[in-house]
Amino acid sequence: METIQIFDTTLRDGEQAPGCSMNLKEKLKIARILEKMHVDILEAGFPVASPGDFEAVEKIAHAVHNTTVAALARTLDKDIDIAWEAVKKARNPRLHLFVATSPLHMQEKLHLTGEQVLERVQHSVAYAKKRVSNLEFSCEDATRSEIDFLCRVVETAIRNGATVINLPDTVGYVTPQEMENLIRTVRERVPCSDRAVFSVHCHNDLGLATANSLAGVQGGARQIECTINGIGERAGNASLEEVVMTMRTRPDIYRGLHTHIDTTQISQASHTVYSIIGQSAPLNKPIVGRNAFLHESGIHQHGVLADKRTYEILTPESVGIHHSPLVLGKHSGRHAFESHLQEMGYELDPDELDRCFAEFKELCDKVKHVTDADIEALVTHYQVTDDTEDGYALEWYAVSTSNYFRATSTVCLRHGEERVQAVARGDGPIDAAFSAIDEIMQPVRHTFELYRIHGISQSKDTLGEVHVKLIAGDHSFSGRGLSTDIIEGSLYAYIRAVNRLNAYTRKHPEDMPEDE
Ligand code: KIV
Ligand code: ZN
Repeated sequence: METIQIFDTTLRDGEQAPGCSMNLKEKLKIARILEKMHVDILEAGFPVASPGDFEAVEKIAHAVHNTTVAALARTLDKDIDIAWEAVKKARNPRLHLFVATSPLHMQEKLHLTGEQVLERVQHSVAYAKKRVSNLEFSCEDATRSEIDFLCRVVETAIRNGATVINLPDTVGYVTPQEMENLIRTVRERVPCSDRAVFSVHCHNDLGLATANSLAGVQGGARQIECTINGIGERAGNASLEEVVMTMRTRPDIYRGLHTHIDTTQISQASHTVYSIIGQSAPLNKPIVGRNAFLHESGIHQHGVLADKRTYEILTPESVGIHHSPLVLGKHSGRHAFESHLQEMGYELDPDELDRCFAEFKELCDKVKHVTDADIEALVTHYQVTDDTEDGYALEWYAVSTSNYFRATSTVCLRHGEERVQAVARGDGPIDAAFSAIDEIMQPVRHTFELYRIHGISQSKDTLGEVHVKLIAGDHSFSGRGLSTDIIEGSLYAYIRAVNRLNAYTRKHPEDMPEDE
């Protein structure tokens, strides 16, 4: 069997998309899930982009042992030095260099001629090769590049030490047939192409990212770059779960090829990434949407009851979805809770388990039926929410609201030993309560990038998961709250986001907007 390497770029190309930014704890959580899932390479970030990106790559390089960790850099010495500094402690580091090779990008963005780009490729690849042996080179906008020039770039990169050549469809422009031809042609025409692994990196602007990635494999690519849930710039990247499950479901087409991915980790990975970025899967999203394995119509139900294979080409279990016969409730003990979590694919350390069990018991007192989705939300929330940060916490709140008069909210926050209270009016209970929080916490001027409430399961007493993302200056600060009471959940989320904003403002006042 030949391996198709899975290169996950959720933490770089995915994170770069609007609304998908993540903090360090969230990135580390995802990196660990990717490692557990056995991705071959994980791209941890673009270290030159910001000190936060640098730190994330450095910490991930330290935390991950069984997966190659890649850091992205432009073809500039400074980028390469910084990327190498961030990733060099990884057990298996990779540098990933890129430069645009299409006429449009070279002229309009880089203001360089083809010859100047070639010089940069030659210099930067040789420069990076002195630091690392595992070296990937990407020709940005490869699918709109002139083929003769593209072949010269690829040959130059390989001759100077690139071990992986990536031909991205940066703007999601090509069709599967074109992608297959491109990979095949470049491999055939470049004399030393057998010294490198070829890779595809497809964006989804026309909804073809998965098809194009798999077509690239038919053309000879042996690495696919993708993200969990397909998050990424604009319409996103190829989604990991789709490319991997297609190859697994159709071994007759992808004969002799396999990936190392433990597909039973897919559901949990998808859920965690959505939870972190404050989104949920569209109901009909392949593999991970809530409806992906549901059969509603009578004819389909009849078929599935007779034999699942009539309408199911892959099983929920193969992607880690289990419908446990065990129903958990207020009388369930810690042991039953733990083994239920294990069945769902979650392994918690004793402290995490204690805390999640306590929260589960509290939830049982509030809602009639605690679903697996509620339990999953509790666990994920606990694992990705950083409560160790310094700052304010909610003590209590009260609101008075009506469609007849303006809402009033009183909020009491705790800060160390201190209790601080404020009253504010607003356009509805959330506006009033957030204003009261502003009065106490005094954040700098900011706007909302996101305020979203998501009901975890389909009942009115379910948990509500709230995401808040604030923008101040060029930075975004997120907070998450989980509660059966959506006002309380909103306050948790807002307070966490403002704690982060205030902590950053104290450290970097120069980055923040002046108050009006
Ligand atoms: O889409 C793209 O071209 C990229 C490169 C940096 C690999 O993300
Ligand atoms: Zn990309």
